[in-house]
Amino acid sequence: SPHLLGIKDLDAESIDLIVKTAKEFKEVLNRPIKKVPSLRDVTIANVFFENSTRTRLSFELAEKRLSADTINFSASGSSVKKGETLLDTVNNILAMKVDMIVMRHASPGAPHYLSKHIKANIINAGDGTHEHPTQALLDTFSLREKLGDLAGKKIAIIGDILHSRVALSNIYALKKQGAEVRLCGPSTLIPKYIQSLGVQVSHDVKDTLAWCDAANVLRIQLERQQIKYFPSLREYAQFFGITRKMLDELPKEIVLMHPGPINRGVELSSDAADSPHSIILDQVENGVAVRMAVLYLLASKA
Ligand code: CP
Repeated sequence: SPHLLGIKDLDAESIDLIVKTAKEFKEVLNRPIKKVPSLRDVTIANVFFENSTRTRLSFELAEKRLSADTINFSASGSSVKKGETLLDTVNNILAMKVDMIVMRHASPGAPHYLSKHIKANIINAGDGTHEHPTQALLDTFSLREKLGDLAGKKIAIIGDILHSRVALSNIYALKKQGAEVRLCGPSTLIPKYIQSLGVQVSHDVKDTLAWCDAANVLRIQLERQQIKYFPSLREYAQFFGITRKMLDELPKEIVLMHPGPINRGVELSSDAADSPHSIILDQVENGVAVRMAVLYLLASKA
């Protein structure tokens, strides 16, 4: 069965096809009747071993708009708490005649492992610090709405790159589309290996904002930090936090993005997050259309 495990193995043509299909679904979502019958005979399980607000609700809504039957599983409150394994859990869900699995898991590679042992389609909804492909696709969609073709565009990814699956998936997606990518953050939060992916690195947020056409700002992921990293949240906000004033004073308008959840007052001040520079809620809106496109295209290849 075809899967969407990451952006790494997706080619530029597939990204274009997903964006084109998502555009059509976005038009559907703006009509009074938002539902289409495309996945009427498909059953999808949203299997979440890690917390989520946007991704989970967005997938569920995308599935419902496509007329699929959906069931939702959270590890908390399930028999995972009694020691049931990942594979047993998913095989039991599939025994109920489920066709597709949308899975979020804290372990990098968990959906790849699953794909070797089960027959259903798998969509990775975030695997630890590894990839979050549908986030990168909705970020691409949102960027293209604002900037057009991304070839030659300057895109900054600012924040906790080390712990971010959103950063890695976005780097792959942006490079495949010919964008220039610059990572910005404290050196402790930018892993050395990532420079081999052909990205620039900066530790100067003001310079990076002046350089870019769009800034994708990421959360400091304290929950993934095993040891106490520099900087503290207060230090991060002081040296890397982005305020509305900084955006207003730039020589040209830039697009401000954030995948959510925002740590208000840390990576973004509230007045920056809620400013006209921000397309943060447009990203969330576009997420439903992009996930409809991914589900539709995968189901049609099954
Ligand atoms: N952007 C994102 O993945 O948000 P959630 O963790 O709330 O799904």
